[in-house]
Amino acid sequence: MSCSTKRGPRHSRWPMIKAFAPAKINLSLHVVGQRADGYHLLESLVVFADVGDTLWLTAGDSLALTVEGPFAEGVPEDRRNLVWQAAELAGWTGHIRLEKHLPHGGGIGGGSSDAAAVLRAVGGADQALALGADVPVCIAARTAIMSGIGEVVAPLARPLPPLHAVLVNPGVHVATPDVFKSLTCKENPPIEDGTEGDDALDWLACQRNDLQIPAMTLAPVIGQVIALLGALPEVRLVRMSGSGSTCFGLFDTPEVAQRAACDVLEQHPDWWVKSCMLGRA
Ligand code: C5P
Repeated sequence: MSCSTKRGPRHSRWPMIKAFAPAKINLSLHVVGQRADGYHLLESLVVFADVGDTLWLTAGDSLALTVEGPFAEGVPEDRRNLVWQAAELAGWTGHIRLEKHLPHGGGIGGGSSDAAAVLRAVGGADQALALGADVPVCIAARTAIMSGIGEVVAPLARPLPPLHAVLVNPGVHVATPDVFKSLTCKENPPIEDGTEGDDALDWLACQRNDLQIPAMTLAPVIGQVIALLGALPEVRLVRMSGSGSTCFGLFDTPEVAQRAACDVLEQHPDWWVKSCMLGRA
């Protein structure tokens, strides 16, 4: 046989692939019920940012993962990493270099978006849910309404304008299962329909993240982030993403967002603060 089963013709088609794993932001996250197996039924408006992690994949005989970049510390380079599990699920082997720019466990899909980027690059997207409830929406990495436990991904009826945001992570990790467990009411109102001609941000301000209060109870610093963002000049909306701890503020222009990011960093140089654009795709 001229080539081993691991290095099949499938691999030779992908000598080196670069993949971008954008930050996932839940502009709203409504918990509308709970299944018998404990998983929660969600309705969430999800957008993607122009900041994220970068991956390079080089096909080879065996799987290896190297993590570098500003948030590499503490990120496993073995099977515990969702990136590794995504490659295994897709039956792909080779070397993956992951450059971490997003704080992990921060409610912005760090691990899920990385795993989705691998599945996009090497195939296997149909198995995304097996890697986590947030992975299916990260596969398309486009503005979407996510529902079910995360497996139903649908485009938004009316497109959102691109949004200028500041993302802030105060460096605390809140475990997603703990946040869901702390949520007392499991049946909350779904996302409201917008009306033609409504200002998107005014409509969005009437939606919610039902996990925000439980997360703030577990990690009070999230309340501090929300208060600080809410006091910034010209801020239109402040909310937490996912199960936290990253929060975002939305602004009308990139200039105001950049100024806001500088203000937050000046007061908290140890926090992760990024101004970015959301929902371009
Ligand atoms: O699917 P994922 O691994 O991201 O979920 C982490 C945890 O969050 C689950 O084990 C579950 O406790 C909780 N979860 C949930 N309902 C969802 C998604 C996640 O209860 N729809």
